[in-house]
Amino acid sequence: CGIVGYVGADQSVEVLLGGLRRLEYRGYDSAGLAVIDPHGDLHTRKRAGKLQVLIDDLDESNLQNGSTGIGHTRWATHGGPNDENAHPHLGDDGKLALIHNGIIENFSELKAELLAEHPETVFASETDSEVAALLVGYQYQQTHDLSLALRNVVGRLHGAFTLLVLHEDEPGVVVGARRNSPLVIGLGDGENFLGSDVAAFVEYTHRAMEIGQDQVVTIRKDSVTVTDFDGVPVETREFEVAWDASAAEKGGWSSFMAKEISEQPAAIANTLIGRISDGAVKLPELDALGPDILTDITRVVFLGCGTAAYAAMLGQYAIEKWAHIPVTVELSHEFRYRDPVIDNRTLVVSISQSGETMDTLMAVKYAKELGARTLSICNTQGSTIPRESDAVLYTHAGPEVAVASTKAFVAQIAAIYLFGLHLASVRGELDAAAVAGLTAELAALPAQLETVIEQKDSISQLAGWMVDTRSVIFLGRHAGYPIALEGALKLKELAYIHAEGFAAGELKHGPIALIEPGQPVFVVVPSPRGENSLHPKVISNIQEIRARGARILAIAEEGDVSVLPFADTVIRIPLASTLFEPVLAVAPLQIFAMELAAAKGLDVDQPRNLAKSVTVE
Ligand code: G6P
Repeated sequence: CGIVGYVGADQSVEVLLGGLRRLEYRGYDSAGLAVIDPHGDLHTRKRAGKLQVLIDDLDESNLQNGSTGIGHTRWATHGGPNDENAHPHLGDDGKLALIHNGIIENFSELKAELLAEHPETVFASETDSEVAALLVGYQYQQTHDLSLALRNVVGRLHGAFTLLVLHEDEPGVVVGARRNSPLVIGLGDGENFLGSDVAAFVEYTHRAMEIGQDQVVTIRKDSVTVTDFDGVPVETREFEVAWDASAAEKGGWSSFMAKEISEQPAAIANTLIGRISDGAVKLPELDALGPDILTDITRVVFLGCGTAAYAAMLGQYAIEKWAHIPVTVELSHEFRYRDPVIDNRTLVVSISQSGETMDTLMAVKYAKELGARTLSICNTQGSTIPRESDAVLYTHAGPEVAVASTKAFVAQIAAIYLFGLHLASVRGELDAAAVAGLTAELAALPAQLETVIEQKDSISQLAGWMVDTRSVIFLGRHAGYPIALEGALKLKELAYIHAEGFAAGELKHGPIALIEPGQPVFVVVPSPRGENSLHPKVISNIQEIRARGARILAIAEEGDVSVLPFADTVIRIPLASTLFEPVLAVAPLQIFAMELAAAKGLDVDQPRNLAKSVTVE
């Protein structure tokens, strides 16, 4: 998740470690570096765990410093977090080292092609990145030109990547390439830098240069050249980095949570990468739960806690609609203690960002004892719950550091929906055209969510006005209901304000007694489009509480004017169908909770009494 490159004085190790330390905010599970020493020899060290593990290893091995180097911190995607899978990866002859961020979608095809051409190849890791290292290594053996060798490979890669390479035969050179993944250049005096972001080199220089999509950069100690993937030089733009080194600790963000909210479109996009092809869902990782098993099961039980359980509720609505199979959602900690009726025709799907939540782990183990089939939807490679499950579908949200979950939540929804569409196809409940339509809606979500997050400033202003609020109610119906619950949870967690989410239809059965003049109520308004829209019912609910003095904060679709007469504030979301709307509607509620907490002067990343990963029952 963090990348640094350096060419300059004989101090690569210090520069790389300093850069990686300032990129730590991005999160990682292993770290490594490669350096070319003054004799032209390549040295590589890489270790699972924190940066300190690598530093101790470097001290022990007394690694020879040099003027050219690359450094990397990894967040596992293909292959668990261990020493072998850490970067750099080497070319076949051990002369080339490569680091990679992102996901190479077509790596299994490339690996097969590579083995067909070079059957003798030995793989030292399970990563997609090593395939790229080997490919560039073989290209170098033919071209003897590092930039050309990399360019010959990047055109064949699908997906998202930032790649940096160096080679013993070209000491004093680092070449990088990027597509859908960040990389910036730092311009020094007699030295130049590359980094995932400017935090990597801000300690040394404030002069930086952008690298565009599908471009390749070559740095030497006194030159920088940028070309497209065909080698044609492109125009570059220099800019001045305004931060000091301390602002760089969080990459310029006020909090991890602010950063992670902004990363939600990418979290969804990365979770979908490689899993939709020609409108169909492809989930090879579910081979252990093959079509025979998926057609044999008679029901699905979701397990999760907190935010993960709300993602599961959306899974229930989606899977019952698409796959016509009974689905229930259970809080993991309740499940084990109430004699649930589970057998070998039950599929238990656990949802957990960390993969370590003890309540969920124990519930999965219990389900297995009862004979259930188990699927884990998880964001953390190598964690315990996936290892206990028959199969795992990873969300690729990247590391989530803030305690209150945001980007993992939307990635969980995307993964659950992919699974729901897969299940519906396998069971013959949805035809190819229907699945293609729904996958297109999924694929549209990142761009739509981007436009919602752009309204951050007006939501922040709203939160500022409401800083003295003591209680907030959230209402939603159908797919809006879990979002109301999540909105309330976020506000409780972050701002320590009493908040409750209700199904809007339940209001008249009790909660309406809470409404008094001035009570703020967020309402997730369903789209007025569609035959069975709950829109008129929710508008009636709004009128009922408005008549009793409630202050209405509506989250409504663009163009829905019917809310205007009844709402004090309207936050707009783009047009999406019922099951996809929640992904868009949740962002304003996350931002509201975060900004209100910040306005109260609270620590939004580490709220009191909470832990990111609750490993006790
Ligand atoms: C903790 C966190 C919540 C999270 C829940 C489940 O309670 O504070 O934000 O939703 O655990 O975590 P998991 O890692 O299993 O998704």
